[in-house]
Amino acid sequence: MQKIAAILFTFIILTACNDSKKDKKEPIKIGNTTAEMSQEKKTPQQASKENGAIIYTDFCMQCHLGNGKGVPNTFPPLAGSNWLTEKREESIHAVKYGQSGEIEVNGKKYDGVMVPMGLSDKEVADVLNYVMTSWGNTQDKPVTEEEVAKIEK
Ligand code: HEC
Repeated sequence: MQKIAAILFTFIILTACNDSKKDKKEPIKIGNTTAEMSQEKKTPQQASKENGAIIYTDFCMQCHLGNGKGVPNTFPPLAGSNWLTEKREESIHAVKYGQSGEIEVNGKKYDGVMVPMGLSDKEVADVLNYVMTSWGNTQDKPVTEEEVAKIEK
């Protein structure tokens, strides 16, 4: 009789443990599903821009600054830059291959050197999508990796 009681007891404990494990699993599953859903909701442009923000901090901010305003007479602004809006191909070219020689941005002349930063075509597209949609900049059309690939030296 004692044996049966002991077996029953163990059985009950085991079932209880299993149940509690199950309970613990549920919320994790829900969490994963929500994370997957929010990733699905992200448009390709949003994903590109978010990656671009990281690239901007690493590669561009030191000269063009966090607010995109640049430094007068030295580093041209990206915020409100007419270059970005009027010279789309030149802008892609500048970020892909570097830029030097006299240029005019928002009516002011610059004659500096921006060295090529060795970014991949996708990274060039991402950082430009960030720049073209930040600090009040509005972009007509997202830059794509394919578009960057087509810009020749
Ligand atoms: C070492 C400083 C430096 C860094 C880093 C740098 N730039 Fe520049 N950038 C310049 C200079 C200087 C010019 C102007 C070159 C000239 O006078 O021809 C310029 C010009 C530009 C232009 C065209 C003019 C304008 O203002 O619209 C764009 C677009 C641009 N940079 C984007 C970027 C992006 C994006 C990054 C990061 C991936 C970056 N730059 C990193 C110094 C820099």
